[in-house]
Amino acid sequence: MSEYLLTLEGMSKSFPGVKALDNASLRLKAGSVHALMGENGAGKSTLMKCLFGVYSPDSGKITLDGKEVAFKSSKEALLGGVAMVHQELNLALTRTVYDNMWLGRMPRVIPHLPFVSDRAMIKMTKDLFHRLSIEVDPYAKCGSLSISKRQMLEIARAVSYGARVIVFDEPTSSLNEAEAEKLFSIIDGLKRQGCGIIYISHKMEEILKICDTVTVMRDGRHIATSPADELTEDKIIRLMVGRELTDRYPKRSYTRGDELMRVEGLNCPYNQVRDVGFKLYRGEILGIAGLDGAGRTEVLEALFGLCTRGSGKIILSGKEISNRTPKDAIRNGFAMVTEDRRGSGIFSILSVLDNTVISSLKDNMTLGFISGKRARHHTREYIKRLRIKTPSELTKIGTLSGGNQQKVIFARWLLTGPTVLMLDEPTRGIDVLAKYEIYELIMNLAGEGCGVILVSSEMPELIGLCDRILVMSKGRLAGEVERGASEEKIIELAYKFV
Ligand SMILES: Nc1ncnc2c1ncn2[C@@H]1O[C@H](COP(=O)(O)OP(=O)(O)OP(=O)(O)O)[C@@H](O)[C@H]1O
Ligand SMILES: [Mg+2]
Repeated sequence: MSEYLLTLEGMSKSFPGVKALDNASLRLKAGSVHALMGENGAGKSTLMKCLFGVYSPDSGKITLDGKEVAFKSSKEALLGGVAMVHQELNLALTRTVYDNMWLGRMPRVIPHLPFVSDRAMIKMTKDLFHRLSIEVDPYAKCGSLSISKRQMLEIARAVSYGARVIVFDEPTSSLNEAEAEKLFSIIDGLKRQGCGIIYISHKMEEILKICDTVTVMRDGRHIATSPADELTEDKIIRLMVGRELTDRYPKRSYTRGDELMRVEGLNCPYNQVRDVGFKLYRGEILGIAGLDGAGRTEVLEALFGLCTRGSGKIILSGKEISNRTPKDAIRNGFAMVTEDRRGSGIFSILSVLDNTVISSLKDNMTLGFISGKRARHHTREYIKRLRIKTPSELTKIGTLSGGNQQKVIFARWLLTGPTVLMLDEPTRGIDVLAKYEIYELIMNLAGEGCGVILVSSEMPELIGLCDRILVMSKGRLAGEVERGASEEKIIELAYKFV
């Protein structure tokens, strides 16, 4: 018997114009958590999809428990003991939790009779949730659950199939800290029961905290595998990008200008935003910190005309503006990069080019026609500047890796040449090097006089990048800190009205 539960050897896979996997390999031990790391487009998701039967590899050998396997569909993989918790969760949102648990293999009370027993399904669901200490109501509709609960449900489903190997693809990117902690304790439980866990993430701290082994990939190839306790963040970065990265944040070489925008007494009738007022200066990067649900995103939405404002004023360059709709806001020079790229960001079936220029069509038109040449020129420039990994600007954006899709969205808004740039968790799912490049672009824009508002849950990002940070608590401003403030100070303010 091999000492490994699962091995992937010599895995290769090409798509038109890309060699996504080039002789990649991975060896997983039972009862361990194995991190899979690498830059955006390194091939992490593709490798896991080959294992899970979503793609069939061009070559390579997979063995599970010493036996060679080649799953042809995700259903086969599940029955064979391999489960994957995708980032895009695959649940039937209009059905109940217990329905989703047993979808496609409903338990029957009397075998061979075509009746599905709700009672049996509910009992089995409750037992399983209890065993995993998951608190989800089996009767709830999936659409009404938070992302975290949906994820718990997917994990429970994986366990119910008796999975020996469970793959998590960037599971914490939409979770808050408490939810992530809960996930880590479930993962720890699975590990103790002897499961092998493969864990994909760009978050260095959590990798070093929960993983036993780390494998780094680059350009579809295996670069290194090492026990986590022999690694540091810097070592991982060096393996990922192939060179040293001395600073995580670019240096500022300019100072802020005069007042660009003033927000007074902002109130929203349909959410908790109350009496929010602040100033934004030209060339300033203004952070907004707060706990999950403190109303940070809602403030941006209110300014961008995405949610109704009850009272409050927005004064831009001395003139009051209304921004009743996003169209108004865009006309007034506002741009907004949203956190939920799948829900509201990308047009999957359109090309990288179309997705890039869609918000700046006017600049890319001549006499009412889209100027193909100009649009292509702009798009190519951003592909280069942001190192967007794509075979060409005509590739469908849906085939790009998650992080690269986010970069395209970023390029889209930069191209509008905004006066006020609002960013909501802009670097989620983005690798370290690309993050640095995005920070540089943000600073360049600020240097040209743009005002930037940055909402982020990554405290080091706020502290490393912002001139000032507003802290929100329960829909209100709890205070403001200057550059160089400590995390403790920010957290203290975030709890002020809780
Ligand atoms: N279905 C597909 N069609 C065409 N190209 C694809 C497809 N799936 C992945 N690719 C390409 O294969 C490469 C590897 O992508 P993959 O999604 O595996 O990267 P990743 O390491 O998971 O990156 P990220 O950290 O951004 O999620 C990328 O260049 C991507 O554009
Ligand atoms: Mg991926």
